[in-house]
Amino acid sequence: MSQSVRFEDKVVIVTGAGGGLGRAHALLFARHGARVVVNDLGGSAQGEGANASAADRVVAEIRAAGGVAVANHDSVTDGDKIVQNALDAFGRVDVVVNNAGILRDKSFHKMEDSDWDLVYRVHVEGAYKVTRAAWPHLREQNYGRVIFTASTSGIYGNFGQSNYGMAKLGLYGLTRTLALEGRKNNILVNAIAPTGGTRMTEGLIPPHVFEQLKPELVSPLVVFLSSEQCQDTSGLYEVGGGWMGKVRWERSLGVGFDPREGFAVEDVAANWAQIGNFENAVHPADNIEALQQMMLNLQKYV
Ligand code: NAI
Repeated sequence: MSQSVRFEDKVVIVTGAGGGLGRAHALLFARHGARVVVNDLGGSAQGEGANASAADRVVAEIRAAGGVAVANHDSVTDGDKIVQNALDAFGRVDVVVNNAGILRDKSFHKMEDSDWDLVYRVHVEGAYKVTRAAWPHLREQNYGRVIFTASTSGIYGNFGQSNYGMAKLGLYGLTRTLALEGRKNNILVNAIAPTGGTRMTEGLIPPHVFEQLKPELVSPLVVFLSSEQCQDTSGLYEVGGGWMGKVRWERSLGVGFDPREGFAVEDVAANWAQIGNFENAVHPADNIEALQQMMLNLQKYV
């Protein structure tokens, strides 16, 4: 494997790096020369309890391989402490990989407020807190890379994961705006929707496929997106099993009615197939492009 993507002068925070995907990311960053803050609260997959040994074990692995890492055992909801730990240990922070996560799967009619709130807190508030604490440092040094971990459960929906899907697609919304706000300070922000055989997916994926979906197969994308070489921002990438691809919005050309005359519910019904016809679909990359079709319709009539 080429080792020319290097992080010798970079400090990387990987949250939830005590196991699963985060551990694989942390190990690969260290192999590429980064100094790594291995954060993990060490609780259960459902977000109960805490245990320092998860992060400590990964730091020991990194050090045994000749890499540089420190452990952090705070919850991502205390993001300022994690960033402070990076500053105390290494004097800077360059990359934030928001990876920590839990599941509280329940069908919506059985969902309790506590399941909804905890999933929101770890995924959304946690990613917010860590990124918000790092942001002034990234701005000041005119360099930063931020990765958010979304999910196909957010992009496409998944039975029993309304809380999780909400949180994961929320992180993509956060990605899009932070990409815009970060650009002038060379802070690039991307999201991944990974699939990997971890404790989170154990029992959900058939065992022979689980074996093949090694977490290590996700990390090269994360490390590349976090590198100086990568100049793309605002992206969403599905990745797993050795495959990766980019996701974008697609919208039908749609149907324009005369806004002066008003139009009826029956007009919507009569044009329903065309409204959803993806022939000649467009792929708006930003808000301006997204509004274009609407503005053209106004110009046509008004
Ligand atoms: P995992 O359960 O092995 O790893 C998640 C890690 O986050 C654990 O080590 C856990 O202790 C840590 N964590 C949980 N709450 C924390 C908190 N408040 N503060 C700090 N650390 C905390 O699961 P996996 O699969 O490695 O998941 C990593 C990320 O990838 C998660 O965000 C997950 O939602 C996402 N993901 C994983 C998929 C998969 O196929 N494995 C699919 C889609 C998304």
